[in-house]
Amino acid sequence: MSRPPLQDAFGRVARDLRVSVTDRCNFRCLYCMPEEGLRWLPRDEVLSFEEILRVVRLLVGCGIDTVRITGGEPLVRNGVEDLVGMIATEMPRVDLSMTTNGYRLAQKAPALAANGLRRVNVSLDSLRPARFHAITRREGMETVLDGIAAAAAAGLKPVKVNAVMVRGVNDDEAVDFARLARENDYHVRFIEFMPLDAGHGWSRQQVVPAAELLAGIEAVFPLRPVQARGPEPAATYEFADGAAGSVGVIASVTEPFCGSCDRLRLTADGHLRTCLFALDAHDLKTPLRAGASDAELDEIIRGAVTAKWAGHRINASDFAAPGRSMSQIGG
Ligand code: 5AD
Ligand code: SF4
Repeated sequence: MSRPPLQDAFGRVARDLRVSVTDRCNFRCLYCMPEEGLRWLPRDEVLSFEEILRVVRLLVGCGIDTVRITGGEPLVRNGVEDLVGMIATEMPRVDLSMTTNGYRLAQKAPALAANGLRRVNVSLDSLRPARFHAITRREGMETVLDGIAAAAAAGLKPVKVNAVMVRGVNDDEAVDFARLARENDYHVRFIEFMPLDAGHGWSRQQVVPAAELLAGIEAVFPLRPVQARGPEPAATYEFADGAAGSVGVIASVTEPFCGSCDRLRLTADGHLRTCLFALDAHDLKTPLRAGASDAELDEIIRGAVTAKWAGHRINASDFAAPGRSMSQIGG
């Protein structure tokens, strides 16, 4: 590390960077995008791999040690495996992973692994084909399951499967997901539905509390907690009978973990965001393209980090959802 760590006004130190490489997606998940898609960024507004590398290099110099590539859907960005190679080659100590919907993973996993990606998180919200279709508005559940298996076969392990649970949509599948975890040595994490859908249709009634899911699983497969929660938002449980895999919950709404948040986000159009729910973003692309020095970029980054707020206000009566949806921010 060549520069001081990125510490905010609440003493939290940024270590984890999410890099969105595109706002586009080949799915249209109910809780994220409208059926017709969104207005995509013009291509020239999207950072090039060289520009992304410059920002990542600078942030790694400030103590970021974990980089997760996201989207939209990162595997729809042409050549994203080359970006993986560029980051992994120059910064081999960085824990480099990717969050993907898995649709193109069977095809891409070998190249991603060969180029230095360490792990993947695959989003999968239902194990029932018709329901998968209703949620993503696309066919492809088997394709995603094949992608997850291909990732494991390529050594991108432990494979994590993220399931966003929505009341009345898929909240009866927790035990099925736990079984998937046990049978395949996958690490399934249930994510509470957050108000980040482009349609602003979120309501508290649709949030399935993580504690309820765990109780349902526990009744069938007794669990034991794995580790105390650090900056990692998931609380993780193993199966008490020693079966493979694990289940975890990311209780962003019912049990916020903002107090230990160590994340920063770089959007596809080169803006730094300090929180999923931040209402502001800090433009790095304009200065980057105007030839800013590292010192100048460093100053903007530190200004952003200093202004990071204590936490999201989903549970406040005057909560205002951010103007960007999840796919436009980068999960
Ligand atoms: N609430 C919770 N999780 C969401 N994701 C997308 N939109 C939402 C939302 N409104 C998840 C995706 C993926 C990750 C990037 O974020 O399913 O796992
Ligand atoms: Fe695409 Fe992910 Fe949004 Fe689904 S949640 S539409 S897979 S970006």
